[in-house]
Amino acid sequence: MRVEDIDIDRAIGKIGEVLTEKQKKRGLLIHAFQQIQKEHNYLPEEELKKLSKKLNVPLADVYSTASFYKHFYFNPRGRNVVSVCMGTACHVRGAGKILESFSEEFGIKEGETTEDMSLTLETVGCVGCCGLAPVITVNEEVIGEVTPKKFSEIVDNIRSK
Ligand code: FES
Repeated sequence: MRVEDIDIDRAIGKIGEVLTEKQKKRGLLIHAFQQIQKEHNYLPEEELKKLSKKLNVPLADVYSTASFYKHFYFNPRGRNVVSVCMGTACHVRGAGKILESFSEEFGIKEGETTEDMSLTLETVGCVGCCGLAPVITVNEEVIGEVTPKKFSEIVDNIRSK
């Protein structure tokens, strides 16, 4: 069968028929997590409790589903999120120093958020553009070849938001 010949509505219909109630609820949970996180920037406990009640899913299952996915967060995150790539290429080209510089500049360690909520500092594995090492991401934007000059510009930009 060619891709053009696939009847998507029919395919989804069939999938819907074979999903169990549990699988359907799991799908709803993920959709709800995305909406909650979009609004709060993380998943507040109160919202998860409400969700658990509304969907009649035990809170422990709500948490275990959310924690399965790396991109859902349980703690408040800053308005800006800097992730320093610690993959091999970036490590070799000074990622540790960049991480240290952000730590010193904002007074937080990896995994922490500044008190004024301006920045969350994280590390990440290879982001797939090793040729531009050292690489960081700022709010999903990939920035390569981070030099001290670029670092200062990035810091200024974060402080201005
Ligand atoms: S190691 Fe940093 S982008 Fe690959």
